Amino acid sequence: MTDGPALYVDGLSVRFGSLRAIDNLSLLVNRGEIRAIIGPNGAGKTTLLDIVTGKTRPDTGTVLLDGGLDLLAMSEPQIALAGVGRKFQKPSVFEALSVRDNLRLALRAPGRSIFAEMGHRLGAAEEARAEAMLERIGMAGMGARRAGVLSHGEKQWLEIGMLLLQEPRVLLLDEPVAGMSDSETDRTAELVLSLRAPDRAIVVIEHDMSFVERIADVVTVLHEGRTLVEGSMARVQADARVRDVYLGR
Ligand SMILES: Nc1ncnc2c1ncn2[C@@H]1O[C@H](COP(=O)(O)OP(=O)(O)OP(=O)(O)O)[C@@H](O)[C@H]1O
Ligand SMILES: [Mg+2]
Repeated sequence: MTDGPALYVDGLSVRFGSLRAIDNLSLLVNRGEIRAIIGPNGAGKTTLLDIVTGKTRPDTGTVLLDGGLDLLAMSEPQIALAGVGRKFQKPSVFEALSVRDNLRLALRAPGRSIFAEMGHRLGAAEEARAEAMLERIGMAGMGARRAGVLSHGEKQWLEIGMLLLQEPRVLLLDEPVAGMSDSETDRTAELVLSLRAPDRAIVVIEHDMSFVERIADVVTVLHEGRTLVEGSMARVQADARVRDVYLGR
């Protein structure tokens, strides 16, 4: 099942009471693409990720992975196993564990408890993957450090590393640079760009427009649960409607 877009969303709607958080939304993200989703607070960006990952059930619509797999018929863990990885805005690493142990945990067999896992020895190949990931996220030499003492940026990179070890085909990042320093934001842009792969789609929600400009192939502007404009960053920035509802504020 490798035909069709990595992520296909059509006619998607969800209401919370009288609020139409997502309103007949359609969206295609291709493999190999880095897509940014921007828009004002409350536009429905996080809600879209909640639906794709199975956390929120829509009222109507279609969400397909790789053009065929019906994500709306699947549970949250099934969707994760099918290759949809998500990073929430707040880092959620295991603070009491070392950086290396956090990465090792990400390699655990699905369904095995963390406690069982702590006593479980990884094979040499898995250990090598964890070490290589330390390097990849720019944290070589920091493996023994307790995750709780890392900077905000380092925690975010570690969590991205943990996600990558699960080899997601669709990677969803919600505000990855919120709260980061300028130099951390720069490094995160480089990291995200390095994650681009022919068989992977990356969807990034962000309010930091210089970051979006650096990483995005295509930008979707969401407003009131609908696509307002979609295209290159230059096109989006030049659009009067986008300036009205978002960029010009
Ligand atoms: N589970 C929920 N129950 C009720 N209302 C919700 C729920 N989730 C989101 N909302 C509402 O839906 C709207 C869209 O919220 P969402 O979090 O998707 O916005 P967003 O685009 O991610 O905004 P931000 O940029 O502030 O993160 C908001 O008005 C929010 O209060
Ligand atoms: Mg949000």
